[in-house]
Amino acid sequence: MAERIYLLDTTLRDGEQSPGVSLNSHEKLEIALQLARMGVDVIEAGFPVISRGDFEGVRMIAEKVKGPVIAGLARAAKGDIDAAWRAIKVAENPRIHTFLATSDIHLKYKLQKSREQVLQQAEEAVRYAKQYVSDVEFSAEDASRSDFDYLCQVVERVIDAGATVVNLPDTVGYAVPEEFGDFIRRIMERVPNMHRAILSVHCHNDLGLAVANSLAAVKNGAKQVEGTINGIGERAGNASLEEFIMTLYTRRSIYQKELNIDYREIYRTSRMVSSITGMAIQPNKAVVGKNAFAHESGIHQDGVLKERTTYEIMSPELIGLPKSNLVLGKHSGRHAFNEKLKELGFSLNEEELNRAFQRFKDLADKKKEVTDHDIEALVKDEIWVIPERFKLQYLHFTGGSTVVPTATVGLVGARGLVEEAACGDGPVEAACNAIDRITGLPGSLVEYKLNAVTGGKDAQGEVVVKVAVGNLKVLGRGLSTDVIEASVKAYINAINKAAYEISKPDQVGGVVDLNGNDDNRKNLG
Ligand code: KIV
Ligand code: ZN
Repeated sequence: MAERIYLLDTTLRDGEQSPGVSLNSHEKLEIALQLARMGVDVIEAGFPVISRGDFEGVRMIAEKVKGPVIAGLARAAKGDIDAAWRAIKVAENPRIHTFLATSDIHLKYKLQKSREQVLQQAEEAVRYAKQYVSDVEFSAEDASRSDFDYLCQVVERVIDAGATVVNLPDTVGYAVPEEFGDFIRRIMERVPNMHRAILSVHCHNDLGLAVANSLAAVKNGAKQVEGTINGIGERAGNASLEEFIMTLYTRRSIYQKELNIDYREIYRTSRMVSSITGMAIQPNKAVVGKNAFAHESGIHQDGVLKERTTYEIMSPELIGLPKSNLVLGKHSGRHAFNEKLKELGFSLNEEELNRAFQRFKDLADKKKEVTDHDIEALVKDEIWVIPERFKLQYLHFTGGSTVVPTATVGLVGARGLVEEAACGDGPVEAACNAIDRITGLPGSLVEYKLNAVTGGKDAQGEVVVKVAVGNLKVLGRGLSTDVIEASVKAYINAINKAAYEISKPDQVGGVVDLNGNDDNRKNLG
């Protein structure tokens, strides 16, 4: 029987460390639920000591996501391990993941500690975590650049201290496949108690080799692979889990390994991560890019029409790629709409379904052809609802080459309908200025992205904005056939999230400090 490989998904921790990505706990929970549906073995839900937001996200996932192991990251320090335990202890299967660098370069410049001190600290951290939970992972940060004999000593000691998983990261993406495979094989041979723990790898993509290195590691004895959806993560990112999964599947005669993955959830997971994080997927991205199954040249099209396998090594259906067929329109009823949602994998409660159906009807009035992509986009909007403190009632704007762009906005909130008008450099800025006057929460637009959900002149535009409100950065999404309306909806969505975050009581009963030091990331060792 093929040997099982365990997948640890760190989209919500290393992936969230991607420049520009910042998720609130509800967004993290949505992704975690989808990762569980896809069948990953371990969800690294965050780094609880880093910020109140991270702590809350991990705690919520530990409480609500059933099935996978839920891991919380901690430096090799008591305070970090205590925080990780407090966040994950309600999980069905909790894991503390503690880490410490082992390369001389990190010891000398970052930690300013001797090899002996680090050895002892690693062992103590594992023993300390073990008091809380049986499942403890230890990562030797920068393992691939560490002195080999010293690394073997560290691995042996942490396993003796009770580590159930030992992870050897290629933290800076420096390794190449032959070398990394060889490194894993030598660890397996050299460390006498290695059979008592799972050997894991965690590869970064600085040279574009993260997936190749992970595969080489698996060929040589690694049993857990860590990565992220769409390969997001620090700098050039982490090993892309969907690429790793599909290589293992497509070339199974070479690898002969098994995974616990529901392959049909891959595409949906990738889309969800992209839309929640606001990180677009490059069109030619392997497996999940828009062009991954598109055939442009006549020769290829002819070949595929005659026999699909001439130019396709994977089937799009296997990864759950929707067919984008035009089945629903303005005459479609609630029953057909609900059936379509089921086919696309959504299970909405009654209230969500009512709202989504109303929005579908509105869209079908404006747009001749409502595709699967359109439906996916509007349903995602309805599922990820945060309390709508401000709701768009109407939007008017005037503009042109000879007049100052002006917008009038009506928002419904606790005070009923409030209207304001403002000018700006363009209609979107004018509308945002008017919104700021109503909400009293002035935001500044840090990033703005516009995607067409489908083709055609009546395509829906999906706008993703990143808005800074004080020290808080929030993402907002908006969807409409009108680009300005989509932009304004995205901005209001972001402001609603900021209002929610600000008013939310923290763990000790206060409220999030807008200008305070909630984020501890800069203190990382
Ligand atoms: O890249 C790395 O070394 C890490 C560890 C904290 C596991 O992310
Ligand atoms: Zn990493």
